[in-house]
Amino acid sequence: MKHWETVLQCLFAIIYHGTTALQMKTIYCTISESCECDFKPDVQGLEWDLYKNLYGQHLAQEIVSEAVVGFLQKDSPDKPLVLSFHGASGTGKTFVSSILGRHLYGAAMSSPYIHQFIPTLHFPLLDRVQEYRSALKRWVEGNLTACARSIFIFDEMERMPPGVTDVLVPFLGPSHVMFRTNYRKAIYIFISTAGQEVINKLVLETRQAGKEREDIQLRDLDASLAQAVFNTKNSGFFQSRIISEKLVTCLVPFLPLSRRHVNRCTRRELCQRGECHRRDIVEAVESSLAYTPEDGQFFSNTGCKMIPAKVNFFL
Ligand SMILES: Nc1ncnc2c1ncn2[C@@H]1O[C@H](COP(=O)(O)OP(=O)(O)OP(=O)(O)O)[C@@H](O)[C@H]1O
Ligand SMILES: [Mg+2]
Repeated sequence: MKHWETVLQCLFAIIYHGTTALQMKTIYCTISESCECDFKPDVQGLEWDLYKNLYGQHLAQEIVSEAVVGFLQKDSPDKPLVLSFHGASGTGKTFVSSILGRHLYGAAMSSPYIHQFIPTLHFPLLDRVQEYRSALKRWVEGNLTACARSIFIFDEMERMPPGVTDVLVPFLGPSHVMFRTNYRKAIYIFISTAGQEVINKLVLETRQAGKEREDIQLRDLDASLAQAVFNTKNSGFFQSRIISEKLVTCLVPFLPLSRRHVNRCTRRELCQRGECHRRDIVEAVESSLAYTPEDGQFFSNTGCKMIPAKVNFFL
C-alpha cells in the first residue's frame, strides 16, 4: 500500500468519532482510488457456473467470461465494462446477471454495490423523462463516489422510456473521470428482448441449413443486432447515442432454447426437489409448452421461464 494511503487511513481512524462506518468508507473511497468496496471477484467460479448451469448459450458464455476476465485484469481500465444482453423471454438474461452479481460480489442482488433498475418500477411515466434523467445521473454519480466498482443493471430495457439512459453517455465512454472518482471501473448491464427477431431468425436458418447452433459466431449477429436495437422504438436504445457512439463493450445475444434445453431445465428443477428420475414429468412439461415456428416447433416460446410452475403443476 502506498505511504499516503496509510496516512489517510490513520487520519480517518482518528477522526472516526461521530461518523458512521458507511460515511467513513464513502469519504475514504472518494479520496483513495484503490477502494474496491466489497468487490471480491471469483472469475473461475463465474466461468464454471456459466459453463455448467447456463444451457444452450455458447455465445453468452464465451462473451461474458472473456469480457469480464479482460476487464478485471486491468488495474486502470480505459472505459467501464458495458454489456447489453438481448434475446427472447426465458433464455437466461436475468439469470446471467444474477450469476455475475454472485461471482463479483459474493451476493446475488443483495450487495449494496449492485444496483438494479426496472423501468416499470423506477421509470414508469413517459412524461417524466427529464426528471428521471436527472435522478438517474445523480444516483449513478453518488454510487460511483461511494464505490468505483459499482454494478448497474437495467433490466427490461424494452419498457424504458426513450431518452432516459442516454444521460449515462458521459459515464460509459473513456473520457469521463471526475476529480478523485474513477468512473471507469464500473460495470453496466443492459437487458432487453429487443433484437430477438434477428437472433431467432439466424438460429432458425442455421438449423434449417443442417448446421449446429454452436457454429454461430458473434460476428454473424453483431452488426444486425446493433442496428435492430437502434431502430426499434421500444428497445430502450431507440436512436440512442449509447449505440451510435459504440459505448457498449459487447452485445450479448441469447439464443432461443430448443426442446433439449428446456428438458435440461426441467431435470434440474426436478433434481432440486429430490425427484431426479421422473422422466414422465420431463415429457409432460415438454409437451405442455408452446413452440415456434409453426412449421417445425423447435424453440420454446417462453424458454425455461415456465419450468418451475409447470413442474409444480405436474408433480
Ligand atoms: N439458458 C438457460 N440455461 C439454464 N437455465 C435457464 C436458461 N434460461 C433460463 N433459465 C431458467 O429460467 C429462469 C428464467 O430465466 P430468465 O429470468 O433469465 O429469463 P430472461 O431471459 O430474463 O427473460 P425475460 O426477458 O422474460 O425477463 C432462470 O431463473 C433460470 O432458472
Ligand atoms: Mg429477465
